[in-house]
Amino acid sequence: MKVSVIGSGYVGTVTAACFAELGHNVVCIDIDPGKVDMINRGQPPIYEEGLEELLKKHAGKNIRATTDYDDAVANTDISFICVGTPSDDNGNIDLGIVKAASKSLGSAIGKKDGYHVVVVKSTVVPETTEKVVVPIIEQASGRKPGVDFGAGMNPEFLREGKAVHDFMHPDKIVVGAIDQRSDDIISALYANIKCQITHTDPGTAEMIKYVNNSFLATKISFSNEIGNICKKLGIDTYKVMEAVGKDSRISPNFLNSGAGFGGSCFPKDVKALIGKAKELGYEPGLLESVINVNEVQPLMMIDLLESRTGELEGKRIAVLGLAFKNDTDDIRESRAIPVIRALLDKGAKVSSYDPMAADNMKAIYPGIEYCDSAVKALEGANGCLVMTEWDEFKGLCSEFKVMHRPLVVDGRNMIRCEDIEYVGLCW
Ligand code: UDX
Repeated sequence: MKVSVIGSGYVGTVTAACFAELGHNVVCIDIDPGKVDMINRGQPPIYEEGLEELLKKHAGKNIRATTDYDDAVANTDISFICVGTPSDDNGNIDLGIVKAASKSLGSAIGKKDGYHVVVVKSTVVPETTEKVVVPIIEQASGRKPGVDFGAGMNPEFLREGKAVHDFMHPDKIVVGAIDQRSDDIISALYANIKCQITHTDPGTAEMIKYVNNSFLATKISFSNEIGNICKKLGIDTYKVMEAVGKDSRISPNFLNSGAGFGGSCFPKDVKALIGKAKELGYEPGLLESVINVNEVQPLMMIDLLESRTGELEGKRIAVLGLAFKNDTDDIRESRAIPVIRALLDKGAKVSSYDPMAADNMKAIYPGIEYCDSAVKALEGANGCLVMTEWDEFKGLCSEFKVMHRPLVVDGRNMIRCEDIEYVGLCW
């Protein structure tokens, strides 16, 4: 099939490359000529494992990029909206970019002869596809939904760093369409993937995405709360969760307690669902607690640190790990951000190390020290906080000897070393 993909960020580029790999003909649309150039040269605008190989393989053959909506829409049968949905100042979803993309898409559809299908892949709150996107396209195109154009919502469940793998080997595919014709066309795109498709209406598909992420975030905050109670009892929460996770109704995944969740999805999506619930007159107390636990969790590391060192004023503290998780340079909502803020507010001198994310963190904290190895960050430090589950931190032990005081507060249950003053966050 001929597919256009609007937005060449993380979701859009992965979607485009994977559809090309599945044998479709893909046109990427982005307003940024720089990104368009990169894709046409086979270079991904973002880093994702396996993405460069796919783009190199398909660029100039069955993938091309353009800034021109009319060209892309005229030459494809179906368009995917994969633009960003940031949070506004209150944590509610900001649909500005989705609306702008829908308008441009609508105006291009208005100039095209024949039927076209529009699919929302961006994460949007329930009702957005039918009450926002479809009416904008209807107005901008002067065409009728269900007659001249089809529409649907097809959420993604891609983990950062594993997005290409997750696209090609999904646990589920959800197609929420306004009618059967749209459903058939969207579903046909996935014919070469071995996975059952869940067919729904758009609102249900939108809700499935939020519930998926909110449930995973809830599992993490639940594990953190249990971990905090276990810590007070002197019980190893990892032993507890290992046994609890053996119950097939629970599963062993996402029960790792620690400094909490970050990233571009969990915090934003839970907050957006809270905002939507409140808009509907419902107070989502459980979801609010999921966020509250996650905000307090990293700061408990500071309490544990201070309980050993006393006042932090003037003390050198090493922060190991700046990315929101391992194997990425992404620092969005990283739990290291509030921790560094608290250290600086208390007058500590922060030295840091991350294998990939230092440059991104410099934009937020230009004044802290960025080192090119863990051992350099640890040199002369009065304490160390482990914030990210990087593999290379697992082996650290003799390196702690260079610290002024080898005190390690571990936020990710990573460090296995006998010769240090070790403090686990929840264990
Ligand atoms: C997540 C979802 O997994 C994905 O399906 C969705 O589409 C986007 O959001 P991602 O943000 O890439 O993906 O990260 P993920 O690997 O799920 O981890 C999220 C955060 O939770 C990380 O900060 C990680 O450190 C934390 N985490 C994860 C825990 O604290 N404990 C756990 O047990 C698992």
